[in-house]
Amino acid sequence: MGINPSGHNEAGTETVQLRDVTTTINGVEWSGRVAIEEVLLDLLRTRIRLTGTKRSCESAVCGACTVLVDGQPISSCAFLAFEIDGRSVVTIEGVGSDAGLDPLQEAFVRNLGAQCGYCTPGQIMSAKGLLLRSPTPTDEEIREWMSGNICRCGCYSAIATSIREASDASTERG
Ligand code: FES
Ligand code: FES
Repeated sequence: MGINPSGHNEAGTETVQLRDVTTTINGVEWSGRVAIEEVLLDLLRTRIRLTGTKRSCESAVCGACTVLVDGQPISSCAFLAFEIDGRSVVTIEGVGSDAGLDPLQEAFVRNLGAQCGYCTPGQIMSAKGLLLRSPTPTDEEIREWMSGNICRCGCYSAIATSIREASDASTERG
């Protein structure tokens, strides 16, 4: 039975339009079918069970759900899942390894860059995006870039210090 552009079949019943998606998530290929209106946050948390990415405002305001798509931080609550087709996604579960924490994670721990920790995955993914784009950001760049990530615990100063230290550490390592 065909689906008309309004998303109903010929019997007038509402249907779900699906898209095939092949992507890489944290370096592992993933293929599956997603509903056309499904957001990436739901795909990650509910279907793939990568629950490190957090749900909060669900309106692209707080940054809790930030992940990287092709190296760019995006709000996964407002990003359609089918748009990851052919692209690469990194979530907080893809940062660091069994061998050790990522320098950003180490710096967050050292500087107490988290209190309750709810915003932390999003903060780290945004900061990863910043350091990919600008490995030695100025304080002003850090402030401006991170302004889309809200921390209800008010850890802003420690978060900025952590990003600066991680940036310095990667410069020293060359
Ligand atoms: S939950 Fe996505 S930006 Fe707040
Ligand atoms: S550490 Fe609690 S919201 Fe940021």
